[in-house]
Amino acid sequence: MEKVLVTGAAGYIGSVLVNQLLRDDKKVIAFDILNFGGESLLSIYNHPNFTFVKGDVRVKEDYQALLDQVDSVVHLAAIVGDPACSKLPEVATETNWEASKELFDLCKEKKNIKRFVFASTCSNYGKMEGNDFLNEDSPLNPVSLYAKLKVKFEKYLLGSEVREDFAATALRFSTVYGISPRIRFDLTVNEFVRELSFGRELVIFGEQFWRPYCHVEDLARSCILVLKSDPKLVKQEVFGVGDSNENYQKKMLADIMQEVIPNSVVKYVKRDEDPRDYRVEFSKIANTLGFKITKRVPDSVEAIHELLKAGVLIDPWDKKYQNI
Ligand SMILES: NC(=O)c1ccc[n+]([C@@H]2O[C@H](COP(=O)([O-])OP(=O)(O)OC[C@H]3O[C@@H](n4cnc5c(N)ncnc54)[C@H](O)[C@@H]3O)[C@@H](O)[C@H]2O)c1
Repeated sequence: MEKVLVTGAAGYIGSVLVNQLLRDDKKVIAFDILNFGGESLLSIYNHPNFTFVKGDVRVKEDYQALLDQVDSVVHLAAIVGDPACSKLPEVATETNWEASKELFDLCKEKKNIKRFVFASTCSNYGKMEGNDFLNEDSPLNPVSLYAKLKVKFEKYLLGSEVREDFAATALRFSTVYGISPRIRFDLTVNEFVRELSFGRELVIFGEQFWRPYCHVEDLARSCILVLKSDPKLVKQEVFGVGDSNENYQKKMLADIMQEVIPNSVVKYVKRDEDPRDYRVEFSKIANTLGFKITKRVPDSVEAIHELLKAGVLIDPWDKKYQNI
């Protein structure tokens, strides 16, 4: 049975991915420092194919022995998002760049490891020039430390000489949303729904700015798709992950939500500059690997709204649901 090491496994995307890998009959070693706790892994903790190891990707000794046991590595562990990286620039540099490089270099040398999947981001594009859709061939213009570190490691990964039977892939995720065992409310869609679901006035800055969005289940599925794809198609390749029809301006998101959530009030505040304004087309992953999303923003707003209204989360404003 194939065995996968997932770093950052207790996180928003990692906890969904681990569930999917187990359902897919993979053995999983989940590795995480538990910055936001590990409750997200409770429901699978007793699964016979699941092992959890608490550790720090910045400390080679914490994970080195695990690399001898696995066939693939999905590397999600990071300081995630612009605010968290600005607040902790040294930890972000150590984690997102230095530790990623060291982990990757070790994986390249381990003959048992055939795949390495890295979670990059569409934030790498920064602000688009004009109205054209961006894709994997577009120039990168990272404007935050978070994106700069992602670009730096992505370039290192793609430019590295690797063994014939080792395929490394960078996935540029869209902005994620949706329900996960470690749900985050510092992400646009989830945060907007939370505010409106509890009758708070939603204040939107820069309603005209575009971003691509993708459901957390679909992003996690893209990692498994890469692990299963013909290595020739994914070796030292970068793919955007999302759907070309899932680019939204913030106002479009609010309009969708106002249709679903009764009596919701939105206030718009004009802002002319946003460093992250981009539309992305995702034909490469669709045409090369056959990736299709299963969930769209309009269908998912109601699910998040119902979760909140049902009181499943005691305090949706709890710090554990934010990365900063
Ligand atoms: N959420 C998004 O919109 C988005 C978009 C694009 C890319 N990504 C990327 O996807 C990956 C996962 O993001 P997420 O939203 O699940 O974030 P998250 O913050 O929920 O999860 C990250 C996990 O990494 C762990 N971690 C942090 N530092 C660590 C260390 N030194 N050692 C071991 N574990 C450590 C944390 O404890 C956390 O559980 C990240 O690499 C992120 O940059 C996320």
